[in-house]
Amino acid sequence: MLAQFRPAIFSGMLSQDVQLFFRSWTCDPLRVGAIAPSGPALAALMTAEISAASAPVIKLGPGTGVFTRALLARGVVEENLALIEFGSEFAAKLNADFPRAKTLCMDAARLRDVELFDDTLAGAVISGLPLLSMTPRTVYSILEGAFAHLRANGAFYQFTYGPRCPVSRPLLDRLGLKATYLGGTFANVPPAAVYRIQRRKALRVHGTTADRS
Ligand SMILES: C[S@@+](CC[C@H](N)C(=O)[O-])C[C@H]1O[C@@H](n2cnc3c(N)ncnc32)[C@H](O)[C@@H]1O
Repeated sequence: MLAQFRPAIFSGMLSQDVQLFFRSWTCDPLRVGAIAPSGPALAALMTAEISAASAPVIKLGPGTGVFTRALLARGVVEENLALIEFGSEFAAKLNADFPRAKTLCMDAARLRDVELFDDTLAGAVISGLPLLSMTPRTVYSILEGAFAHLRANGAFYQFTYGPRCPVSRPLLDRLGLKATYLGGTFANVPPAAVYRIQRRKALRVHGTTADRS
């Protein structure tokens, strides 16, 4: 099924996407966080646990839409996607390429304030945000807002170019979350690793609640 989005990635669209991405990176390297769009191997890893049952799905920092195409190939319909992108140059392209998705040109740190799918909570958040170039306070707001939109068993998927989870242990502890390493790929520029972040399950022990993480 993923083969469906691979041809699009390697088609003539790619060079336009690479140019747009590179131009955006030269204007605002900290916000864009990479010099080239993510590759198909990373898109496959980031969406490996996603199916139609994960809908609706929130995509943070979709950029040129590489992971968004992977989500569609996994069976999530466009109407069930919310695309949260700060860069107006990327948001305009996302609006044109995915007209039935809900594209919001906004800071993902303000996610808590917006209504996305009426009263329906999301099954997954797929984040391409450059968390390593953000302050701990901003990362906290992004995660807090994202989990406010997620179902109890919903998961937040994040990739990183760094050697460990880009969300620090104290921040995870403060939010009652845990991170699990899902895998890495060298078939990406640069090589990247993917983490799943979830709520810790609360255990009831003799009338009190304890974390099981
Ligand atoms: C590393 S790129 C991800 C690119 C995407 N995976 C692709 O291949 O096109 C990071 C993206 O996050 C966006 N971004 C950065 N900070 C953001 C924020 N605070 N809120 C929403 N989007 C943000 C950038 O504009 C960029 O599109």
